[in-house]
Amino acid sequence: MSAVLPSSASLYDRVRRVIPPIEWSVFVEDIDAILNLKRQRNAVILAHNYQTPEIFHCVADIVGDSLALAREAMTVDADVIVIAGVHFMAETAKLLNPDKTVLIPDLDAGCSLADSITAEDVRLMRQRYPSVPVVTYVNTSAAVKAESDICCTSGNALAVVKSLRVPRVIMLPDEYLAKNIAAQTKVEIIAWNGRCEVHERFTAADIRELREAHPGISVLAHPECPPEVVAEADFAGSTAAMSDYVARHRPARVVLMTECSMSDNVAVEHPEVDFVRPCNLCPHMKRITLANIRTALEENRHVVTIDPHVAERARWAVERMLFV
Ligand code: 13P
Ligand code: SF4
Repeated sequence: MSAVLPSSASLYDRVRRVIPPIEWSVFVEDIDAILNLKRQRNAVILAHNYQTPEIFHCVADIVGDSLALAREAMTVDADVIVIAGVHFMAETAKLLNPDKTVLIPDLDAGCSLADSITAEDVRLMRQRYPSVPVVTYVNTSAAVKAESDICCTSGNALAVVKSLRVPRVIMLPDEYLAKNIAAQTKVEIIAWNGRCEVHERFTAADIRELREAHPGISVLAHPECPPEVVAEADFAGSTAAMSDYVARHRPARVVLMTECSMSDNVAVEHPEVDFVRPCNLCPHMKRITLANIRTALEENRHVVTIDPHVAERARWAVERMLFV
């Protein structure tokens, strides 16, 4: 425990259940540097729920799911916004608060869903289904958003689809999210074939094995999981909705069928809950580290820019979802 510096001791108290002292000793210097740099540069760090606990609990100013981060990004008053998340989240922040400097610590922090579709693909879908509105998941590039009528996240997808009051929508690019939403509405949903490389790996058999090994366990799943996984789960919702479920129901034992760090982050808030952790890592989220957040603030990199013509149309689609 001698490795814990006094200035960081209170922070360590928060995360001691999920970060061993030996690991903390490696983090302390970067945490102190980042806290200082945030003050010097009038910067805030927005961190997604999948960030590791030393980022999520020790340097982030605002944490949440994609929807919450988008809403918060819009009203941030600081000069610099650092996104501890993936590239589409940084682009969304830049779209919603274009006058700020938005930094992403690693330009290669991508997303298999965002990589599954191009702007040209959306234009072809429109030709194939004329006058059917296009609902685009925020896990896409700004160029794809610019071809869309409205965006959605896993937290508001059903409400967005219903808000259009049409019998048919195109929902891009996550096939499983589209199917999971289709199961909750009479609106016909035309899907794309994108998949999240993290959530597509969970199976219904995994859930049955977990229930057998841990009788009474609560199973929560992200809607990017295959429909048969969502059907077997006790609850499905965005990362924020899963976290709220644990806070409201305080199950004795729970499993979150989602990215590994979620369980660590929620466990910090709920020491009374036993988390079973089948672990699927998102390699893109894990590209963000304390070290590259520190470098981002020291060297002002990587600055997120979006072509103004693309930005104007993409912003409209993102802002429209925020008013649903
Ligand atoms: P949420 O919007 O639920 O936080 O999900 C984002 C994401 O990338 C899930 O894989
Ligand atoms: Fe993309 Fe899946 Fe990673 Fe989320 S977890 S950023 S959807 S690859």
